[in-house]
Amino acid sequence: MKMGVDYYPEHWEQTMWEQDAKLMRETGVSLVRVAEFAWSRLEPEEGGYDFSWLDEAIDVFDRQGIKVVIGTPTCTPPNWLVNRFSDVIPVDAVLHPRYPGIRGHRCYNSPSMRLFSERIVEKLAMHYSNHPAVISWQIDNEFSLNECHCESCNQQFRRWLSDKYGSLDAINEAWGTVVWSGEYSSWDQITTPLGGTAYKNPSYLLDYKRFETDSVVEFQQLQGNILRQYCPGHFVTHNIWSYPMSLDYYKLCKRLDFASLDYYPNTSPEKAVSSGYSGALTLDLTRGIKRSPFWIMETISGPPGCWFPMWRTPQPGFIRAYAWQCIARGADTLVHFRWRSAPFGAEQFWHGLIDHSNVPGRRFEEYRMLCDEVNRLSPVLAGSEVLGEAAVLHSHDLYNAFAIQPQAEGMDYFDNLKLYHRALTKSGILTDVVNTTDDLDRYRLIIAPSLYLLDENLADKLKNCVKNGAILILTNRTGVKNLNNVCWIHPLPGQLAEAAGVTVTEYDPVGNDVHTIRMTDGKTHTCSQWCDILEPAGAETIAWYENDFFAGKPAVTVHAWGEGKVYYIGTVAEESFYLDLFGKAADEAGLTRFTGLPEGVQISIRRKGTARYLFVLNLTRKKQTVKLGGAYLSLLREESVGPAIDLDPYAVEIVKLVEDDVFCIK
Ligand code: GAL
Repeated sequence: MKMGVDYYPEHWEQTMWEQDAKLMRETGVSLVRVAEFAWSRLEPEEGGYDFSWLDEAIDVFDRQGIKVVIGTPTCTPPNWLVNRFSDVIPVDAVLHPRYPGIRGHRCYNSPSMRLFSERIVEKLAMHYSNHPAVISWQIDNEFSLNECHCESCNQQFRRWLSDKYGSLDAINEAWGTVVWSGEYSSWDQITTPLGGTAYKNPSYLLDYKRFETDSVVEFQQLQGNILRQYCPGHFVTHNIWSYPMSLDYYKLCKRLDFASLDYYPNTSPEKAVSSGYSGALTLDLTRGIKRSPFWIMETISGPPGCWFPMWRTPQPGFIRAYAWQCIARGADTLVHFRWRSAPFGAEQFWHGLIDHSNVPGRRFEEYRMLCDEVNRLSPVLAGSEVLGEAAVLHSHDLYNAFAIQPQAEGMDYFDNLKLYHRALTKSGILTDVVNTTDDLDRYRLIIAPSLYLLDENLADKLKNCVKNGAILILTNRTGVKNLNNVCWIHPLPGQLAEAAGVTVTEYDPVGNDVHTIRMTDGKTHTCSQWCDILEPAGAETIAWYENDFFAGKPAVTVHAWGEGKVYYIGTVAEESFYLDLFGKAADEAGLTRFTGLPEGVQISIRRKGTARYLFVLNLTRKKQTVKLGGAYLSLLREESVGPAIDLDPYAVEIVKLVEDDVFCIK
């Protein structure tokens, strides 16, 4: 486990490097990321490479025993490159070039961009392959889909479609282009979605998103291949931007050593509680990308701002608590953005650990304490991992399909995922968030939100889990379409109807109209977005609608099937409903559950062999108290704590659980 910082030597007088590196070492920093945007300094003119300044900077760090991650600079092609080779610049849906001046102005399919990227990466890889301080590479910076419509993208899109479908007839059939006379009779009639209208064929739009992901993956892989060739002993990663995301991170990270995340929890008082929960989801998603530990390549060090008004400064304890949240949920290395605030450029007020004054202040002291703690606990925690007991399924394809065709006012795939994950986190259920294509065998509780695109493979995998005793929770909009984004001709939830023991006879996209459901015990919950009117075929009804023409009709059912059970939730209810239902389902599935967590307090566990370390985090501005099952050794305080632990705002506690203990918070 390492503590690191993002450092831009090219932003500072060379005379400052040595003193910065020295202070880093004294503070406990053992890693820096450099060079990710420095193309104009690394290759000031075509073919004129100059790595001398970077050599000197890396040597400075090396002398302090600090290891280095080099970012390949391809997110910021320099002016000489974009001026001379116009194909580098992405083109928008109305064929306007996106002008340079900001970063990310590069088309992934541009032949010139690819060529010059390969050249500079090869030069860097050859140059630093044997440098003792360099241990890792970050390819580019925060990839996302460009939605580029240039000639290269058009050509590559056609090639991609031809590889996927083989013939125009197959495309016409798969997409249903007969609607509105959209049938293609020659390849050059196919273009990227020019004009960008939402009325276009949804199958075509979804394939374009997939093509775009593949373009990014290919662009990244060109660099990855070179780095693997010259630097076989180095790690290769990429720093992903947050969620939700159209770019498929599972594909992007497949050939990387580990995923890295840029994590900026919100500091605003109104978001003091919600930020911790959405952060927990982001971290669980990131751990789920490769189902293994990950790095944080950037995280909050001060008030962010610049092209928007600055956020509130992180409260005392915030930087430390959110850093520990990353480790609690599977991060193995933390790199803070950035060492010192930039004096110039677009991000002058995206604050670093040290302000423009260059006088280390309160936030820096907190960071120093964090470094001490992480470095002290590193030998204990290194090699431990986070293993959820429940799984929530996620897919970028689903996110994209719902973005292409929003189903109802206020219905958002990712917001609903947040709702379910938040209820699980509040219920103290240890949760993994994994790709729909992942192996699910080890989970006893699987929550599968809105499997709108569903094929036999996924349906069979889920049915097998249930046959073998898992509890599966399905929601509205399951089994609607095939993977080509074309509706199945069958009653919903389609391939899972038999296992769920229920069918949808009709639905009402109620949107923001608030309805009510009543549970078997008389308790009521509000619901909105969508109402599936259900007809049980073997399932038991556990909630009914209270309003509208479907008052009295089933809204939620449960069906014992095989050795397991399938819940079907036909609507989107308020949080209290999920707290009850997930708690009940977790108990039925025999999962560990930490009940009675105060709002905003999160727990998670890292395991190593038989050892288990429980993290308790108060991610709120209030004092809170939690009760453990007994007294335990606190790793941070090196003394026994519990059963009751008083947590100050943003307090962190890490305790070593005793083997075979019933480690419940009641
Ligand atoms: C990240 C990016 C960094 C920096 C930071 C603050 O998204 O990777 O380069 O821009 O945000 O804006």
